[in-house]
Amino acid sequence: MNIDWLSTWSLIRISGFLAYFLFTLSIAAGLMNRLSLFKKQKPLMLELHKLSGWIGMLTVVFHATLLLVDSYMPYTIFEILIPFSSENDPFFSGLGTISFYFFLVTLGTSDFFIKALGRTLWKKIHFLVIPAWILMVLHGIIIGTDSAQPWAAFIYGSGTVLVIMLLVFRYVEGLLESTGNNKRKIVKKTP
Ligand code: HEM
Repeated sequence: MNIDWLSTWSLIRISGFLAYFLFTLSIAAGLMNRLSLFKKQKPLMLELHKLSGWIGMLTVVFHATLLLVDSYMPYTIFEILIPFSSENDPFFSGLGTISFYFFLVTLGTSDFFIKALGRTLWKKIHFLVIPAWILMVLHGIIIGTDSAQPWAAFIYGSGTVLVIMLLVFRYVEGLLESTGNNKRKIVKKTP
């Protein structure tokens, strides 16, 4: 098989996968940062969480910019920015656009607006990253040329298993923490 790695089409596909990888890494590091198992690596996880998120964002901008100059299926700037407006696969292209906006809001509010928003509202906004990630996965799997390849199935499958596992761990740890705190309160109250 002869692949032209530097053709616009190849670069669109490579940057799509790279963005998927970086956003998945960012979410995984963010979840690990909250788990007691990774207590000692907390600063590292936090840096990884932020850095991979922002590099992922730059990679998506590259992915979308290449679509403007692709000769086979070019997108206009409006088709990229306005969800469901493209001629090519409007629904799943639109999911890519919405995912991009969700990631942008999550990243932008984290680095610049935490104080202004207050921690509770910021945290609610930060959870947009989960629908963003789900939309990104659906977009990649359904619109992508490579989705039927075993290596692509492995990349999507392993990322999905990792994120779901970490979400479950975090949920269980949260439950254990809150039942532990409740028990401590009851013990304190009994004379
Ligand atoms: C968070 C934002 C995005 C991510 C993470 C992302 C990721 C991906 C991934 C993983 C693929 C699969 C590559 C393949 O198997 O070939 C892909 C393909 C594609 N994406 Fe995106 N994408 C995003 C945003 C967008 C946007 C905004 C558009 C345009 C509206 C777009 C248009 C496309 C197209 C046309 C393909 C098919 C390329 C091909 O295989 O021919 N993407 N994207």
